[in-house]
Amino acid sequence: MSDPTQSRRGFLQTSTTAALSAATIAQLSLSSGLYAAGDDVIKVGLVGCGGRGTGAADQALSTVGNVKLTAMGDAFADSLNNSLRGLNKHGDRVAVDDSHKFVGFDAYKQVIDSGVDLVILATPPGFRPTHFEYAVSKGKNVFMEKPVAVDGPGVRKVLEAVKVAKEKNLKVGVGLQRHHQDGYLETLKRIHDGAIGDVIAMRCYWNNPGVWEPRISHEQAKSEMEYQMKNWYYYLWLCGDHICEQHIHNLDVANWVKQGHPVMARGMGGRQVRVDKRYGEIYDHFAVEYQYADGSWLFSQCRHQPNVWNSVSEYAHGTKGNSDVSGNSITAGSEKWSFRRDKSIKRSDPYQVEHDDLFRAIRNNTPYNEGENGANSSLTAVLGRMVVYSGKEVTWEEALNSNVDTMPKNLSWDSDPPTKPNANFEYQIPTPGITKAV
Ligand SMILES: NC(=O)c1ccc[n+]([C@@H]2O[C@H](COP(=O)([O-])OP(=O)(O)OC[C@H]3O[C@@H](n4cnc5c(N)ncnc54)[C@H](O)[C@@H]3O)[C@@H](O)[C@H]2O)c1
Repeated sequence: MSDPTQSRRGFLQTSTTAALSAATIAQLSLSSGLYAAGDDVIKVGLVGCGGRGTGAADQALSTVGNVKLTAMGDAFADSLNNSLRGLNKHGDRVAVDDSHKFVGFDAYKQVIDSGVDLVILATPPGFRPTHFEYAVSKGKNVFMEKPVAVDGPGVRKVLEAVKVAKEKNLKVGVGLQRHHQDGYLETLKRIHDGAIGDVIAMRCYWNNPGVWEPRISHEQAKSEMEYQMKNWYYYLWLCGDHICEQHIHNLDVANWVKQGHPVMARGMGGRQVRVDKRYGEIYDHFAVEYQYADGSWLFSQCRHQPNVWNSVSEYAHGTKGNSDVSGNSITAGSEKWSFRRDKSIKRSDPYQVEHDDLFRAIRNNTPYNEGENGANSSLTAVLGRMVVYSGKEVTWEEALNSNVDTMPKNLSWDSDPPTKPNANFEYQIPTPGITKAV
């Protein structure tokens, strides 16, 4: 029997310069049966070859079926080469020759244009909206890490591209892996089935000692741009501050519990312990109260300070009971439930499961798009940062429609990033009541 997927692939590959009408091409990509036989190769490109990008590529290459990593891109050659060395353990599933290694700010375009079927986007999140928009415009399936944006204009760009991705029947996964974790899935199902009644309050925390130390000094960097790119976590335009980078996971769970997003927030925070100038311009603690459309509240904290109370967790309180959501347990009156994995089932790694689920959707051509949830959870974090930096109450709509665009207009190694230090290498720290954050 002839394999229709093979002939379609051959057709698509040889037809790019042929006189196919745009409508025919659109129809082909809409039908997207390319992987229906389940044995066709899915070519993967990786953009952003750091810790998570390398991990995501490893997971993509560990999915069932024929998968190959065929192109890689990074701002820095050393990151790319380190990542490739690690991934080579996958043998002939890694087929990245020198002509498919791309370095610099435009590497994402070169990876996406190199003939891949799916692209993994795992740079610092400031770049995500631009990279995602381009991938979707070129008809690529996407796995992108969280957050998917760090400001209002970025979230709007992602939401627009999500719509286009749905029209093109592209599959989009977002690295909010709790949605692929069995204990969370079972707990959320019970909450949604009414186990604790109406949820009237939630709490969530990402309180821990912090992340990696700055990687290079100003003396080692050839330019301010290179300095900030290497130390990206500490700069707003690249990272969005740690409420976006880490706490998004807990805020995402709260939105999942409520099956919606907040409508308003207010809060406070600052920089109390991580104050050295090498820690750029970000805060080390945020405390935000969010209100949802039904009047219920979410009390949220995130803190990067050592030697204090730490917790990375989420809780929901309802009219009939309470849930330790991250502990996967529910108490309602005398009834207690906690998730127990069947001993015969191996504990599943949500980082792997999210790729298994995405690749299965591509091969079976079933609807799969986590982009809108990713954008809403990202905006929840952005909203929290806006209320804390500004010291004001801010609505969801104000955050979404904000014109505070944190991205630089020009990207090159000698162009200026949006914030620059003074002569003593100190950065301006956002000040509530003064900083325009919305
Ligand atoms: N889902 C999770 O649990 C999880 C865990 C860790 C990280 N992440 C996310 O993954 C993303 C990356 O984090 P990481 O820990 O891998 O950081 P990292 O610093 O280890 O890697 C980032 C890589 O992107 C490269 N890069 C920077 N700008 C680029 C550009 N414009 N084009 C191409 N490459 C560029 C860097 O050189 C670096 O190699 C972040 O958004 C982070 O939040 C998610």
